[in-house]
Amino acid sequence: MNMTKGRLLDLGTGPATQAIELSKLGFQVTAIDISENAITRAKRTSKKGIEFIVDDILESKLKVNSFDYIFDRGCFHVLEPSSRQRYVNQVSRLLRDGGLLFLKTFSAKKPSRGGGPYRFSIDEIDSIFSHRFVIESFKETVYQGTLDILPKALFVVVRKKT
Ligand SMILES: C[S@@+](CC[C@H](N)C(=O)[O-])C[C@H]1O[C@@H](n2cnc3c(N)ncnc32)[C@H](O)[C@@H]1O
Repeated sequence: MNMTKGRLLDLGTGPATQAIELSKLGFQVTAIDISENAITRAKRTSKKGIEFIVDDILESKLKVNSFDYIFDRGCFHVLEPSSRQRYVNQVSRLLRDGGLLFLKTFSAKKPSRGGGPYRFSIDEIDSIFSHRFVIESFKETVYQGTLDILPKALFVVVRKKT
């Protein structure tokens, strides 16, 4: 995908791994997390240039149309099902028209034993997002981390409708 550099939000940034790499690539990065601890630690380990904010994506205090791109690795899939439409509405509010959301979740192909993180198929993502977004692309992949067997994951790019 050919992406020009722009304003980018890393939501649910945790240790800011993505935020740091994206900032190095030249994006103007804002990173939010609901956890004050996560933001305090991320600020300590990151170089200057990233704006870190304690913020709940479901009640975000960030301004409308603030971003060209939003990244979410692992936040959406921990939210309760009852919060999903609020999430879609907030992400849509924060993105400019035509802006992109890059979303990584656990995949429905990994059988669930119940409880979060939730797992999604591409059809479920489509039905949750389709009133405000169109799917640009998706890929079945794995969720890199410390587990011996890497969980199956879904990486989806959706574009905000104009
Ligand atoms: C599984 S971690 C992923 C962290 C990071 N993105 C990564 O890939 O390593 C999910 C993160 O989402 C944050 N989070 C959960 N609910 C949130 C919300 N409503 N608003 C913002 N962040 C939230 C958690 O505090 C946690 O840091």
